[in-house]
Formats: sequence, structure tokens, C-alpha cells
Amino acid sequence: MKPKVFITKQIPEEVERYIAEHCEYSIWEEETPIPEAQLKEKIKDVDGLICPKANVTESLLSHAPNLKVISNIAVGYDSFDTELMESHGVLGTHTPYVLDETVADLIFGLILSAARRIPEMDKFVRSGQWSSMEDTSLFGKDVHGATLGIVGLGRIGEKVARRAKFGFNMNVQYYNRSRREELEEKYGLEKKSMEELMQSSDFILTMVPLSPETTKLIGEKEFSLMKQEAVFINASRGKVVDESALIEALKSNKIRGAALDVFEQEPVDAANPLLSLDNVVLTPHLGSATQQARDAMAMKAAENLVAGVTGQAPPNVVKELQHLVP
Ligand code: GLV
Ligand code: GLV
Repeated sequence: MKPKVFITKQIPEEVERYIAEHCEYSIWEEETPIPEAQLKEKIKDVDGLICPKANVTESLLSHAPNLKVISNIAVGYDSFDTELMESHGVLGTHTPYVLDETVADLIFGLILSAARRIPEMDKFVRSGQWSSMEDTSLFGKDVHGATLGIVGLGRIGEKVARRAKFGFNMNVQYYNRSRREELEEKYGLEKKSMEELMQSSDFILTMVPLSPETTKLIGEKEFSLMKQEAVFINASRGKVVDESALIEALKSNKIRGAALDVFEQEPVDAANPLLSLDNVVLTPHLGSATQQARDAMAMKAAENLVAGVTGQAPPNVVKELQHLVP
């Protein structure tokens, strides 16, 4: 008998065919997320679950006694409670590598958009304000040759560093728990303390995963250390930044601007003050949203799922649960 799995979002046909070869499966076909009560009903006899960003709770796990693996279609897995999953013997997997270059592309889009005020200028052209560009206060800020500070030099941070160094001749520095000497050599990077990084960077990018240690890692103190011309970019998780401190820094022009793909609360509330500020560029958490990257992520999630329900070692178990791998 094939193992049973449930998939909470639509996936590419090719990925579905692959799952069908190995599993008995059903899929939540609606565009809207599956309500929790229905999810609990669907998972009561499954061995595996593909479930992007589902909050893994005790009450969810206790409804699925056969569950062996939860496969996330994302690299970030802050939605996993890994201690709880460990206590239920459930593996958690994610989709690293296949989206790194795609997210790094978006990050450069954000850097350029904020520095050259592209979305704001687009609005000017459309609304007949072409000549506003005579106003020097609307001039942008150079990206080439500027100093980029990366907080969290992981896989994606590395891809951004490569673009910055070789594409834009930027001076790149980083803050990271561990030193990355091979990258320092490859891209001429310099490791800095958090304080030094804040004080000396023209562009500051946070690329750390969300955890209790990184929650509100960037707050009032960090913004107060930044240059007045600094541009802040976040494409990891909204909660690594104290959003009210960021809003305050933007409102009072303590920093020049920001570009954000992620927010404390998603979707962003219509009353969020960020929505009414001109010096911020906003995108709806779309870092990995290209067809190629999303297809590759779905396939990777399926491979992790199938391995997990057939007693093999899934290739991308999250590090906190790797010791459970058979
Ligand atoms: C997206 O945010 C991801 O974690 O893949
Ligand atoms: C993403 O999670 C990374 O490793 O940079």
C-alpha cells in the first residue's frame, strides 16, 4: 500500500505526477488557504504533508498520529515548532538552494528601486509630473561603488555579495555569527561588528532566518547608528526588524529610505503607516516568486516528502531535526 499524503496548495503537474508514482494523495484545490478545521480532518490518517507556512501546533500534530514528515515549500521554516515536532517524531523539510539566485535578484531590484526611487518616478510619469525631476531633492543615490552591509551571510547573502562586488563594484561588508573566510577572499568582504556595520554602510540588508535570537535584531539602536543617507533592505522575515522603530526612522528621515519584501504582519494591514510613506518601496513577499524557482521549490518539497514517507532520508531536513533522520 502506498503511503498517504496531503498537499495544501496547488503544485505543478509534473510534481503531482511524481508524487502520484509514490503516494496516494489529495490536494486542497482552492485559492484560499485551507481552514484549520478542514486541515485537521484531512491529515488524520496521512503519513506526509506538504504545507507551506502552516503553523505547526500541538493540536495539529495530535490530529495526525501517522505523520512522519511535514514538507515546507519555502527555505524559511519559522512556522515549524521544531521541539514540538521532535516530541512527535515528525521530520520537517525545507527547500534551500533552488531559490537563492532568484531571491538575490529581487534584493538587487529592491536596492536599485529604493536608491533610484523607481516606483515613485513611475508614478510621476503616469500622472504627468515629468518635470518634477528638475527638483534636485528627488535625485537618487548611487549604488555602484557604495558600501553594502549584509547582516547574515548565508547562501542568499553570498549571492547578493557576488552581484554587489562583480556587478556593481560595491564595497561589501558583513555581520555573521561565524566568520566566512573563503567568501572574504572570493568577494573581498570584511567582517564587522553589528555596530560598525550599521555606522559605515550605505545600504544595509538583513538576510538572517527568523528565530528567537534574531527577533527584532534591528531596532531603534541600530537605526540610530545608521548614516542619514542609509537605505535599509529586508527580504528575509519581517519580524527580524522592529517595524515601529523602522517606521519612526523613515518618518523622521533618520535614514534615507527602505525597501521591504517582508513585514511583521502579512498581508500588510491597510492601516500600516509604511503604506503612506514615500521613502519606502514595498513588495508582497515575492522573493522567490519566479516560475522557475517556484517549480523547483515544489519539486524539491515533493522529493523531501516522498523520501520521508518511504523510510528514506529526505535531502533537506531542517538542521534542528536532522538527528531524527533514519
Ligand atoms: C520564503 O520566504 C521562503 O522562506 O522560502
Ligand atoms: C537563507 O535562508 C540563507 O541561507 O541565506
